[in-house]
Amino acid sequence: MKKKIIVLLGLAVALVVIILIFVSCKDSTTAEASAASTTVAETSAASTTVAETSAASTTVAEVSDGSCTDCHNSTTQIVSKEVQYSNSLHGSGNTFERNTAACAICHTSEGFTERIDAGTFEVAADIQNASPINCRTCHNIHETYTKADWSLATSDPVTLELTGDVYDKGNSNLCASCHQPRPGTDVPVAGGAAVEITSSRYGPHHGPQSSMLLGVGGYGEYKGSNVHYDAVDEGCISCHMTDTAVGKVAGGHTMNITYDSEGTPAEYLVGCIKCHEDITTLDRNGVQTEVVAMVEELRLLLLKQGLIDDTGAGIAGTFTSEQAGALWNYKTITEDRSKGVHNPGFAKFLLETGIAALKK
Ligand code: HEC
Ligand code: HEC
Ligand code: HEC
Ligand code: HEC
Ligand code: HEC
Ligand code: HEC
Repeated sequence: MKKKIIVLLGLAVALVVIILIFVSCKDSTTAEASAASTTVAETSAASTTVAETSAASTTVAEVSDGSCTDCHNSTTQIVSKEVQYSNSLHGSGNTFERNTAACAICHTSEGFTERIDAGTFEVAADIQNASPINCRTCHNIHETYTKADWSLATSDPVTLELTGDVYDKGNSNLCASCHQPRPGTDVPVAGGAAVEITSSRYGPHHGPQSSMLLGVGGYGEYKGSNVHYDAVDEGCISCHMTDTAVGKVAGGHTMNITYDSEGTPAEYLVGCIKCHEDITTLDRNGVQTEVVAMVEELRLLLLKQGLIDDTGAGIAGTFTSEQAGALWNYKTITEDRSKGVHNPGFAKFLLETGIAALKK
């Protein structure tokens, strides 16, 4: 009897032991499985570290697991922007071949980064193997390897090199760093000394959009203000790159305003609608038409007085300050290329002043 009880007890104990072993096995299996997935995570973290080390050893500590995938996660964050960007003139243009020190500060990625980091308007030397403007030019890509890398290379207010006026409109200060007249040529003043024009490229090369918006840097004393500077919070970005991109043809990172919509010329009005609810054309109230007509009137006068050739290029020679001023204003409007929209009042003023100067 006693023996039977002992055997039964023994069996019970054995059963409990078996159950315990089974349970603990199950536990350890789970534990192993999670250990395994940890290993996977570690592996990608490890390769992360490799990438970082070669890029910037200082950032290792800041990288947490997953920071690469914040951006490289196969969602549209990079892909959509890349495809838009490829269709922008920044992404598709060829002027990054202007790699000499004088030009590289605006025309190459390396030159721009060098001068922004140094807080100057020059680079030490010509840029060899220059890259076009790309994601890294405008964003701090691969510096901390976190989302913070999307921050912009600069959004500091920009003191225009030509005039000393300050352009300050949030993130679009980035744009104004390059889209400003090149310094080096004095703006003619009425009644000033004769002006010797030595280059066919006379004028405020090539992107005087920020000075146009501010209403500065023209020949003549302009007193008006500009609602498209004062009231547009983010400046350039508000009109050129609101989030609502049209595929890869306009807005967003294309930065294009006019585009081709399956063969039909089209206009990107998304940025305008915020203020002009019923707008149907960039040529609001016929302002662009009027500006284009005035540009043509001024062009014919410049041609007649021997300041430009048929292609619109300047002709070398010595001219009165009034003539040079008229040419300066013509170049400002044609190189701004908004046909007056950036600053309707100023555009008309510059053209009127130029036309009047040549009609004297
Ligand atoms: C802030 C977003 C962001 C983070 C975080 C990020 N990347 Fe990138 N990465 C980019 C962008 C943008 C590009 C450039 C894409 C282009 O040129 O079209 C890029 C390009 C690359 C390239 C292609 C080669 C090159 O350098 O252009 C590799 C490889 C790469 N990243 C690896 C990594 C790794 C590894 C990490 C994590 C340590 C990481 N990235 C973190 C945004 C990011
Ligand atoms: C690093 C200098 C630089 C910065 C920063 C920059 N641009 Fe540009 N931009 C250029 C250059 C250079 C070109 C002409 C490229 C070419 O022709 O190869 C250009 C071209 C353009 C064009 C196309 C002009 C055309 O003829 O179709 C637009 C629009 C434009 N930029 C808007 C902007 C906006 C908006 C920003 C700010 C978000 C900006 N740019 C920032 C240098 C810059
Ligand atoms: C302050 C910045 C800046 C500097 C410096 C600069 N550029 Fe530009 N350049 C621009 C911008 C911005 C554009 C684009 C303007 C636009 O598309 O409206 C441009 C456009 C151009 C274009 C295309 C426009 C056209 O009419 O064909 C050429 C060519 C060019 N630049 C050559 C040069 C050369 C050569 C130098 C040096 C001698 C130089 N740039 C220096 C900002 C600059
Ligand atoms: C000429 C300058 C310029 C270039 C080049 C550029 N970006 Fe941008 N990007 C901007 C500006 C300016 C903004 C902010 C727009 C705003 O404030 O609405 C921005 C915003 C972004 C954002 C949104 C950031 C957020 O808040 O999440 C992403 C993502 C981005 N860019 C990706 C890219 C990628 C990818 C590339 C390269 C294919 C690129 N950008 C090239 C100027 C640029
Ligand atoms: C009020 C809206 C608005 C603002 C703000 C604005 N733009 Fe424009 N921009 C336009 C319009 C509209 C055009 C004319 C498009 C056309 O008719 O071809 C234009 C034309 C241009 C062009 C000529 C190429 C093109 O796309 O037609 C460049 C380059 C340009 N703008 C750059 C800038 C820069 C840089 C800033 C900021 C310094 C800026 N814009 C601010 C609306 C704006
Ligand atoms: C932040 C608000 C704002 C944005 C964005 C804006 N505008 Fe304006 N715009 C105004 C105001 C205010 C006026 C002056 C009052 C008026 O004409 O309605 C004006 C005036 C104009 C004028 C001059 C009209 C005249 O008869 O002299 C034109 C042209 C114009 N805008 C076109 C545009 C275009 C095109 C866009 C988009 C690319 C745009 N605006 C974006 C606020 C804005």
